Amino acid sequence: MCGIFGIVTKDEQPLGPILIEAAKRLTYRGYDSVGAATISGSKIDLRKDVGKVDEVAAKYNFAEMTGSRGITQLRWATFGEPSQVNAQPHLDSDGDLVGAHNGNVVNNVELRQQFIAEGLTVRSQNDGESCVHAVERYLNKGYDFIDAIRLAYGDLQGDYAFVIGRINDDKLYAFKKGSGLVAGIGEGFTCVSSDLPSILPLTRRIVRLNDGEIVILWADRLEVRSVKDGSILTREPETVTESMDAVQKGGYPHFMLKEIHEQSQVGRELLHMLESSPEVETVLEKARTARHLYFIGCGTSYHACLAGAVYFAQIAGRAVIPVIAPQFMPQYAPAVNHEDVGVFVSQSGETKDVLNALEAAEKRGMTCFGLANVIGSTLTKAAVCTLPLCCGYEISVPATKTFTNQVLTFLYLAYRLAGRDPAALAAVPELMDAALEMTAPQVEALAPSINEWNDLYCLGYGATYPMALEGALKLKEITYAHCEGMLSTEFKHGPLSAVTQGYPILFAVPSTDVPLIVSGINEVTCRGARAIAIGEDDPRLRANASEVIVIPHASPEISALLTVLPLQLLSYHMSVLRGYDPDFPRNLSKTLTVD
Ligand code: G6P
Repeated sequence: MCGIFGIVTKDEQPLGPILIEAAKRLTYRGYDSVGAATISGSKIDLRKDVGKVDEVAAKYNFAEMTGSRGITQLRWATFGEPSQVNAQPHLDSDGDLVGAHNGNVVNNVELRQQFIAEGLTVRSQNDGESCVHAVERYLNKGYDFIDAIRLAYGDLQGDYAFVIGRINDDKLYAFKKGSGLVAGIGEGFTCVSSDLPSILPLTRRIVRLNDGEIVILWADRLEVRSVKDGSILTREPETVTESMDAVQKGGYPHFMLKEIHEQSQVGRELLHMLESSPEVETVLEKARTARHLYFIGCGTSYHACLAGAVYFAQIAGRAVIPVIAPQFMPQYAPAVNHEDVGVFVSQSGETKDVLNALEAAEKRGMTCFGLANVIGSTLTKAAVCTLPLCCGYEISVPATKTFTNQVLTFLYLAYRLAGRDPAALAAVPELMDAALEMTAPQVEALAPSINEWNDLYCLGYGATYPMALEGALKLKEITYAHCEGMLSTEFKHGPLSAVTQGYPILFAVPSTDVPLIVSGINEVTCRGARAIAIGEDDPRLRANASEVIVIPHASPEISALLTVLPLQLLSYHMSVLRGYDPDFPRNLSKTLTVD
């Protein structure tokens, strides 16, 4: 997830050291490239490249940069591979403006074409550059700076925040549309950033911006204006007292809980992105005509492949073969050819098991697409093209938001393949928030009693089968208990013998198959088990299960996805109750680059 920081000081001064420190404070958001720009009179000094803050700052000697205004940016690639030219900040055509953004401008491709047609100098593929040109195009038409920003805001679709400055001025300008933006007021300076950690070491007097607001920063004051009509808005600064650690975690005790609650926001951003992604067409075209279609991944990403396969069949009538990556080589690689298509799914894009499968598939001439969160990773370089997951940095080892966005991507593709309007999916983010809100208190209350057991089962059927597997994986990863995910109908073929009095069994209930789940529930409860059903409010569940965790009503495919949310919460609470750190479970790694 990108991060921006800008500062305006009273006098010209060395800004490099301040920008380096600010950039370092944003690294927890994840990044692949770093840049800094200072403005001094009629000169802009811009330095940037791919790499870590320390490396890039040392290589380009950021420390010597001076000026009265400065901008730094950490880039997390979405548009354009990580490269020096795609790194931010960016200049306008003449080098009079410099700006940087965080977030995604989803109509970037179209805008770039317009700018080129208008004669502007477009140097990169990056959408941050489009933000600069979007302002430049209106300045060229004679608009004043604020109006140019207001018009640019209308042209730049998506969720982002943006900061821009120009030569021979004494101000910076920033605006917010969907991504975080906060401003700070200090002694002899003001600053603005996508997040508080880069501001708090400088000042604790801050103003939080809302969507649709422009902030204009002078060294001694700031002004907030409405994008809509340009009117000045009154804003009293607040004093922040939280610790830096709490601020980085957004007030949550762990990154995992923060990331669970970020799922709606990243889901919204993903749907925006998919709507305007040219790669979607490429993938759909091949998926339509492929002889066999494979979805390939490991761990959580494999569970998303399974969910995708169910959705493709149920929604689009298209059979898909979901594969755990290492099994691709012995079981499928010998039989595939150039008529087959694979979607290789990996949050990190670096999982060796997945890369091995991709290499084997490519050797046989198969068309290989990627679905990854880390753009610029090995997978994204090897695949024909990659759909980005748009999740920003996922810090906690147990994947949460990357999983739901993987599933949402497959759901979106299934809708498109079926010729159904994906606008129906716009309800998903809100439903996710509602599901978390509805289930959180009950899940937290249930956690201590379930936590007494070191052996658990998590069962699902149809579209909730992958959710049950994923819930079980979360429980295994961070509680260190044995938890098995299974097709609910398989339980009677063996594990039923393990049931004793009070034995907890979690059922992720598909709204389409309640009677089947009710049978499964009765098979275990009559032997003393405690059946905890996660599903929509249904009298049949209330009459048969020991407890029901109610999720909101939605279409069957969306409802299935929602069942994973209380399972994520349950694993989180059980991990904390056991005294473990859910963000960094023992023995596990977020990126597994070994066989
Ligand atoms: C590791 C992690 C799992 C993850 C899997 C696949 O095993 O512990 O949580 O699901 O790798 O990771 P990927 O980056 O390929 O999605």
